[in-house]
Amino acid sequence: MSEHREVVVSGMRPTGRLHIGNYWGALKNWISLTESCQCYFFVADWHMLTTGYADTGALQANIREMVLDWLAAGLDPAKCVIFKQSDVPEHAELALLLGMTTSLSWLENNPTWKEQLHELAKTKHAQAVAAAGPTAEPAPAAASREDLCTYGFLGYPVLQAADILLYKGSRVPVGQDQLPHLELSREIARRFNHLFGPVLAEPKPLLTPTPKIPGLDGRKMSKSYGNTVDILESAQSLQAKIMSMYTDPSKLRKDTPGHPEPCAENPPGCVVYALHKLYTPGWEKIGEECRAGRLGCVADKKSLIGSMDGPSAEFRKAREALAAQPQRVEVVLAEGARQAAAVARATMSEVRKAMRLR
Ligand code: TRP
Repeated sequence: MSEHREVVVSGMRPTGRLHIGNYWGALKNWISLTESCQCYFFVADWHMLTTGYADTGALQANIREMVLDWLAAGLDPAKCVIFKQSDVPEHAELALLLGMTTSLSWLENNPTWKEQLHELAKTKHAQAVAAAGPTAEPAPAAASREDLCTYGFLGYPVLQAADILLYKGSRVPVGQDQLPHLELSREIARRFNHLFGPVLAEPKPLLTPTPKIPGLDGRKMSKSYGNTVDILESAQSLQAKIMSMYTDPSKLRKDTPGHPEPCAENPPGCVVYALHKLYTPGWEKIGEECRAGRLGCVADKKSLIGSMDGPSAEFRKAREALAAQPQRVEVVLAEGARQAAAVARATMSEVRKAMRLR
C-alpha cells in the first residue's frame, strides 16, 4: 500500500526560530501532509551556506532552534522522516553528478537566482548604510554581487534537485517563489533520464493556498526586516508586538472609518486584520465594525491578543516539554538520517549503475 503513496520532499534553510509566516506558509502544511503521504523533511544546512558561508557561528544553534520549533508545532517524527541534509552525503554526490548534465544557461536564467541576488544586494546595502551612515561607500550592490557570485550559489537549484530526486519525490510543497527551482529540478531529471534511462522521477509542486502574512510593519514578514511574530513568543512580547502593529494611518479615532483590507487608501492593509483572519473565528465582523467606525484600533488589537494567546501558550508549553528532553533533537535527526540514508543509498546505486560508474 505504501508504494502508492505520494512521496513528499521539502526542506527549510536553518534560519533559527520560526515565525508565524513560516508556520502558516509551510510547516502547518507539512504536518497535514504526514497523514497521507510518505514525507521527507530536512534541514537544508548546505543551502544555508550558499549565501551564509562567511559566518557559520550560529549555524548549529539555528538548526537546533528550528527543529525544536518543528517538533513543538506538531511535526511528528513517527509519521515522517526528519533529518539534516549534511547527515546524508548522497545529496552532495547526486548534486555533483547532476551538475555534469546541467546547462549553465538554465542556472543563469533562473529568475529566482536573479531575484535573490538582487534582494541580498539590497539587504547588504541596507546593512552597510546602517553601519556607516547614508554616505556608505563604495557602491555596495556591486561589492555584494561579487560576494554572491559563487559556484555554490549559482548551483543552488542543482543541489535542490538532488535533494528531491534522491527520494524520488513526487510532490514538493513550496511557495510560489520556488516554482522556477522546481521547474529546473524537473528539467534536470528529464535530461538525466534521457541520457541514462528512466531512473529519476519528475517532481511536481504542491502549491497550497497560503495567506500572505504581513510583518508588524505591513511589509512581508521576514527575519531580515526585524518585523516577525515568532511561533515562540512570551505572553508579554506577543502583547507588545501586537500593540505595535501597523493598522490604518488614516484611522485617527475609533469613529473614523478604517480600511482593513489592502486598498488605495491603505496599500499594505491592516496587519491586525490580516492576523484576525487566521486566528479569530468570525473575523468578517471585525472588518465591518472597523469600516463602520464602531471599532478602534486599540480594542481591535486587544481582541487579537485574546485570539493569539491560546495558540501561543500551547506552543510555549510544547517547547517547555521538549526542553525537558535535551537530547531529543539529536535523537530525532539521527534516526531520520538513518531512514533517509537507506533510501538515498538505494537511489545512488541505481544512478551510478545507469551512468556506468560501476
Ligand atoms: N530552497 C528552499 C527554500 O529556500 C529550501 C530547499 C532546499 C528545498 N532544498 C529543497 C525545498 C528541496 C524543497 C525541496 O525555501
